Amino acid sequence: MSMRAEQLLDWYDRERRDLPWRMAPDQKADPYKVWMSEIMLQQTTVATVKSYYKSFLEKWPTVQDLAAAELDEVLHAWQGLGYYARARNLHKCAQVVTRDHNGRFPESEKRLLDLPGIGPYTAAAVASIAFGLKATPVDGNVERVVSRLFKVEETMPKAKKQLTELAQTLTPQKRAGDFAQAMMDLGATICTPKKAACGLCPWMKDCVARLEGEPTDYPRKEPKKPKPTRKAHAFWLTRSDGSVLLRKRPEKGLLGGMMEIPSTEWREESMSLNNALRQAPGSALWKSKEGIVKHTFTHFHLEVTVICGRLQANSPVNGVWVQLEDLKDYALPTLMKKIVQHALKTTT
Ligand code: ADE
Repeated sequence: MSMRAEQLLDWYDRERRDLPWRMAPDQKADPYKVWMSEIMLQQTTVATVKSYYKSFLEKWPTVQDLAAAELDEVLHAWQGLGYYARARNLHKCAQVVTRDHNGRFPESEKRLLDLPGIGPYTAAAVASIAFGLKATPVDGNVERVVSRLFKVEETMPKAKKQLTELAQTLTPQKRAGDFAQAMMDLGATICTPKKAACGLCPWMKDCVARLEGEPTDYPRKEPKKPKPTRKAHAFWLTRSDGSVLLRKRPEKGLLGGMMEIPSTEWREESMSLNNALRQAPGSALWKSKEGIVKHTFTHFHLEVTVICGRLQANSPVNGVWVQLEDLKDYALPTLMKKIVQHALKTTT
């Protein structure tokens, strides 16, 4: 085993994070649990995943149990993790494993890739962590660590291929799963994006970015383009029983499948109130609320004008009526929480 691999694994044996899906060093990992945790951890933090992971395993302790569940039940349990396509694929994958593979995940990176919802990252994670095969899952943490260790000057996302190849050269034959998780832990706890606790890093003496430059300058990024500003109107539609209308966003696109306060399209051109009202979810006497709600996404700023109305009798609408005190049960995205707060503000 290379010196580098040994140094990192020694560090991991001392400092590994205690996570619910992690086996003790002498225990065999359950591929079902490893797969479940890795799917949940995509685009979601460790802190959020813990309780979902626990409740999924209580409800469905084996891959056969999950395969036999109703899709709706799975989607319901997924509420709050976002990106429902992942939950659909989770269910579909459990069914394929149960039906076509005798309830056992295939023990090869290549065959894992054929399963629904399993891409290169997850295939490598399950192959290494669950089966101990030599495979290298590369997530944002790993990319950051490698870009610093080798001081890679190519900018993201172009650098991805090179970073993956470099990460592969580091992975040892033995303990590849521990090595992969050690890389993730190093990236999450020491080699972090904005600060780097280099004094605690097992690779301190070896890290080219530290020796010759500033580690936090890596991975290199293209200079930022200014973000455009889009605008929208959101409809705060209430009913005589005090409930408010929520609607599910389309599966595809931003905040796909999440609940929203119904809104117009988000566009760079301003829209007149009259034009916005053509997209209203029901008929009401609408009134614009003073002020705007601002929110920034990865690629643009959004400015939302909230218009409030009380539903007129017998006007049909699409969506669900929710009592204000029950809004907390709907895992609303941050933008929607801001809109709710704004709508509920008393204006003087
Ligand atoms: N992030 C995604 N998978 C992980 C794992 N197995 N350990 C630590 N962080 C992770």
